[in-house]
Amino acid sequence: MQDGFGRDLHYLRLSVTERCNFRCAYCLPEGCRRPAEADVLSADELDRLVRAFSRLGFWKLRITGGEPTLRSDIVDVVGRLARVPGIRRLGLTTNGSRLLDLAPALRAAGLTALNVSLDSLDPERFARVTGVSGLESIVAGVEKALEVGIPSVKVNVVLLRGLEDLEIDRFLEWTRRLPLHVRFIELMQTGNSAAFFRSHHLPAHELRQKLEQRGWAALPKDSTDGPATMLGHLGHPGKVGVIAPYSNSFCSTCNRIRVSASGALRLCLFGNQEIPLRPALQPDAGEDALDRLIESTFKAKPQSHLLDQETLSVPPTFAAIGG
Ligand code: 5AD
Ligand code: SF4
Repeated sequence: MQDGFGRDLHYLRLSVTERCNFRCAYCLPEGCRRPAEADVLSADELDRLVRAFSRLGFWKLRITGGEPTLRSDIVDVVGRLARVPGIRRLGLTTNGSRLLDLAPALRAAGLTALNVSLDSLDPERFARVTGVSGLESIVAGVEKALEVGIPSVKVNVVLLRGLEDLEIDRFLEWTRRLPLHVRFIELMQTGNSAAFFRSHHLPAHELRQKLEQRGWAALPKDSTDGPATMLGHLGHPGKVGVIAPYSNSFCSTCNRIRVSASGALRLCLFGNQEIPLRPALQPDAGEDALDRLIESTFKAKPQSHLLDQETLSVPPTFAAIGG
């Protein structure tokens, strides 16, 4: 399946809840005020949706949120989506708060990739950034995920000014002990976080320099890297990645489509077109109508997010669409 610019679309990022139990300073500093959701897609609707994308040639799926593990049926959802014919890779992005408990069940349900958002390894700084405590259990959850054999385990660290050298070295030390991928993501400006962005934005190239000074060198591009540039270091089984959304090449390799927790399709993270899929997800709507509706949207995928241009439509936060 190709979009209007010849990009091969095969990657669906599916949000399963907008609720979150953290209050990350750049995302939901006031916390999530959403009541228990009545309008999120049910496990049946998610299953129908993913089957349609699979029929259209999508083979890579990531479950996002909000915090997906706040759904009480998350293990069931993972198990059902892992069994959809044609889905070869199934990932989940989580803040790790329930990971220590859930890792074995997620592995057994068929999860192949886990991304844990973890911005600090210092308990105090972690609490300052996320508004909650509990760092130790998340670190233990990440290590548990490796132990039970989830094939790919990555830690995502949002780059924030004040990510002191000591902190960087803690993450690097983790990659010396374990075959983890630690990926530093440049902070993106959202509608709700303009002031925070101005005071905390740290350009990705500054981190890249620090890594190179510590002997890390760029690795050849791998098909599983996504938008990250990966670096390696002798003696470290793990790797480090840098994700720079403000760089020029970010959009040209974009292969993804997003669907919100209530079933709205989004063609670009930055951009306000939303196509409601829910009516077409009902059992009586017919597979054909659903496939045609989804397919008809692809030609409208924009060429670039235009992050550096005035016309940019910034979302208020990424909490609803999982980044
Ligand atoms: N900039 C960069 N990353 C963000 N995330 C959420 N909001 C932002 C932002 N403004 C990240 C989370 C997580 C992923 C889902 O998106 O920390 O790693
Ligand atoms: Fe929750 Fe993720 Fe937003 Fe943090 S970044 S508040 S964990 S949705």
